[in-house]
Amino acid sequence: MIKSVPIAVFASGGGSNFQALLDFENGSSYHIALLITDREQAGAIEKARKAGKCLHVLEPKNKSDQKMTAEILSVLEACEVKVVVLAGYLKKIPSDLVARYPRRIVNIHPALLPSYGGKGMYGRNVHEAVIQAGEKISGPTVHYVDENYDTGEVIAQTVVPVIDGDDPDSLADRVLQAEHQLYPTIVHQLCSSL
Ligand code: GRF
Repeated sequence: MIKSVPIAVFASGGGSNFQALLDFENGSSYHIALLITDREQAGAIEKARKAGKCLHVLEPKNKSDQKMTAEILSVLEACEVKVVVLAGYLKKIPSDLVARYPRRIVNIHPALLPSYGGKGMYGRNVHEAVIQAGEKISGPTVHYVDENYDTGEVIAQTVVPVIDGDDPDSLADRVLQAEHQLYPTIVHQLCSSL
């Protein structure tokens, strides 16, 4: 029998990557022990409920890094989480949390890092910048998370074409489809190696 590593997914938005991770879970080397979100309106919440997953909405009052880290760590420890998977989570991960999960926190970014990453490079902004620069290719990057935005070691990328006439939405859709293929596979590989 394949061992199954408990992971936590962090999501702030629509949750399509969370859904892709759910869809791949059966028979993989991971299982989603819980969803953590910082937004009560996050689309991922409904998906977690439907799948019968544990859910934790972060306390908005815990604004300091220290309090936030303590809250997150207590939930992760209670669920015996071994790997943290960021899927459209917009808050910065506190450095103490990074230190507690060395090379055990991963993120997916909708461009080919190290280009088009860093503060402010999220959502539509990323695809707008790629198109404006006249790039011919883009695509998702899965990387380890360190203390800064989008600077951790790259684990995997998929190249996606930028097509003449693309606008940020059409490019975002194409990249997102590639994310759904790439992310669960990489999380599975990472968990298989533990
Ligand atoms: C994705 O584009 C991902 O690359 C980025 O945030 C977006 C999340 O989308 N980090 P979704 O909430 O998974 O649909």
